[in-house]
Parts: sequence; C-alpha cells; structure tokens
Amino acid sequence: MVTVNRNYLKLPGSYLFSDIARKVNDFKQKNPNMNIIRLGIGDVTQPIAPAIIKTLHESVDEMANESTFKGYAPDLGYEFLRKTIADKDYLSRGTTVYADEIFVSDGAKSDCSAIQEIFGIENKIAVCDPVYPVYVDSNVMAGRTGDYNAEKGIYENVIYMPCTEENNFVPDFPKEKPDLIYLCYPNNPTGGAITKESLQAWVDHAVKIGAIILFDAAYEAYICDDEIPHSIYECEGARECAIEFRSFSKNAGFTGLRLGFTVIPKELKCDGVSLHSLWARRHSTRYNGAPYIIQKAGEAVYSNEGQKQIKEQISCYMKNAKYIKNGLLDAGFKVYGGENAPYLWLKTPNNIKSWDFFDLLLNKAGVVGTPGVGFGKNGEGYFRLTAFGTLENSIEAIKRIKEL
Ligand SMILES: Cc1ncc(COP(=O)(O)O)c(C=O)c1O
Repeated sequence: MVTVNRNYLKLPGSYLFSDIARKVNDFKQKNPNMNIIRLGIGDVTQPIAPAIIKTLHESVDEMANESTFKGYAPDLGYEFLRKTIADKDYLSRGTTVYADEIFVSDGAKSDCSAIQEIFGIENKIAVCDPVYPVYVDSNVMAGRTGDYNAEKGIYENVIYMPCTEENNFVPDFPKEKPDLIYLCYPNNPTGGAITKESLQAWVDHAVKIGAIILFDAAYEAYICDDEIPHSIYECEGARECAIEFRSFSKNAGFTGLRLGFTVIPKELKCDGVSLHSLWARRHSTRYNGAPYIIQKAGEAVYSNEGQKQIKEQISCYMKNAKYIKNGLLDAGFKVYGGENAPYLWLKTPNNIKSWDFFDLLLNKAGVVGTPGVGFGKNGEGYFRLTAFGTLENSIEAIKRIKEL
C-alpha cells in the first residue's frame, strides 16, 4: 500500500492567508462598491525599478542569440552575482563573507524551509512566537516536531520563545537547550529590530551551547537606524554558529521574479561535518540554478542606478510606515515596529481577539490586515499592518480607522 508522509497531516487545515482571502471575498460579494484597502499580505506593490528592468530586457535578448544564449545556470549561482553580493552586501561593509560562501536561490522561503534537511531529525528547534510560519511548518513536514496542540496553539517538541512588549520583541534565551535557533530581524510580523548587542549575546549563547542560528535577514534593506546590524556576521563568532538568508523580494520587488541567497561560512561545522559542503550537495542535487536573466537583474540591483532607485522605493514604503504608525498612535493605539521594518504591530483595542479585530476592521472600515494570532499564540491581541501599499491608501486606511 502506498502511504503518505503523515507529518503533513499534523498541519492544521487552512492557511492564514487563505482564511483572510475567503473572508475578504465574502465581504466583497456583499459590498461590491466598497473600495477595500489591503494592508494584509506582505507583498510589495511598486514595479521593478527601471535600471533593473533594462538589464532584464537585455538579458532576455541575450537568450535569443546563439552566441550569448545561456542554458542551465551553475547550481550555486553565477560567479558575477555571488561576487557582487559578497563585495556590496558584506566586504564593503566590513563584514567577512566570501563569494564562494554564497548560494544563490529562488528566494528566502525556499532556503529557510529547506535548510532543516541538512540537520538530523533529532535536533530540537527554537522559534520566536509570533513567527513567520515557514520555519515551523517545514520542520513539521520533516517530522521534527510532535503533534499540533490546537488548544494551546503550539506543536509539541518545539521550543517557543515569546516575543512580547516586555522583551521588546527580542526573545530571552529559552530554558530548554535548542539545537537550531530561528531568528528573523528586522522581524516579520512584529516589525521589531535587534540591536548589535542583543544579536551578539545570541551569537555568544549559541556558541556556548553548541547551537546553530538560522538568521533570516529578508528585511535587512529596511534598517534605518545605523546601530542596527544588517547581517549576523557583524557579530564576532557568528561565522562559527550562523547561517544567513537574504531575499531580493522586499528590497527590490522580486516577489514575482524570485531571487535570494543563503550564506554558509566555510568554517561552520556541526557534528564534525562542514555545513557548507552539505548545503552545496543538497543545492546541486535538488536545484538547477536561478534563471540567468533573474540573476542578471539581481546584479543590476547593486548598480549605482539600481541602488538609487530601490532606495527611493524603500523610502516610499517607510514613509507609509511612518504615516500609519503616527496615525495609529494619534488614534490612541499602542503600535510597535515600522521604524526598521515595513510592518506595524498594533495592540488591539480593549484586548479584543485578533480575528475579532480583523472582522471589525474589514466590516466597518474595509481595511484588511493580518490577525496576530495567525503567527502564533503570543500574537493574540495583536494585529499586523503592512507599509507595502500606496501612500494614498495608507492615508485613507488611517482616516477610516480613526472614524471607527
Ligand atoms: C521573514 C520572511 N522570510 C522570508 C520570506 C520570503 O522571501 P522570498 O520572497 O525571498 O521567498 C518572507 C516573505 O514574506 C518573510 O516574511
């Protein structure tokens, strides 16, 4: 008899964003003339910057010519992109990461869900709560967790690290010893950032207990404060205990183009084995390389024009974040985030449940956000709004929220 991977059956039926889409569709059918403002899903709205589009067109044309046509890309990424990333994202900022430690991929989601494959099934994971769901779900699928406890809203055999107002949304070290620690800063969903001192403390802790930090820096480009680290490798000792994920989705609008990369330093060892070699083996077996045209577009992100244009886009999103945050504060809400991240994390008024606030906002204001509890039990009583809309929509959303 053919059997299925029963670990998949541990995953609760519906996915957060499908639930939201269903509710929004119902509302739309009942209110066809209402202009719904969507500040829910973390997708960008601005088009790809002109300097990047130009390179995309040129590289598409290369595909039409026998002398410049490209077939399979190198598994680990084209040298031109790996070198550019190492130079511009790391070496020029005084951080040590070499081109051959960079693995180019189709995005951070693929990598941060797949990374667990190179670790033994007996490893215990620690995640922030609330958290981007991919880290936990990928470990559930692999069989590294116990069952889902619907009553508690947690999986058995996972260490949840509460991120609350009290700890400024940066977790304390858990009492139980983890093997793999997922950290994401700037954070989705709380919009929080981590100081160099706190990140260094996490690195020191990981080294001390022999754990590996899986550091998701997908929102690095939104850091505005000079004191906030852009990479975990800015911390001493991180090359011996950390893997870093980056994405072109949120800095350059590649959510539809798809490009990202993972950094694994050569000296990073676990169980006497090089994680760099394991990931290289995994990557070259399971992946045939990100498309040439997209990697060329990725290279254009680092050109002078590209940098100038994407910085303008990010500053538009951060202008929205500022407007939304100030508007909510003005309206009497408690709001976090939005200063080094494109997310606002607001406390629901009178502690009403996240989903009730979702319904209220949708039905009374036609504004869509994301219920905090969808990211974990410590997200209950919170609500996430994104700054990825237009300024016009952000202004209108705040106007409607103030009229509630
Ligand atoms: C924390 C975090 N990591 C990774 C991703 C996915 O990035 P990518 O589009 O590169 O797969 C997202 C997307 O929303 C995210 O919020």
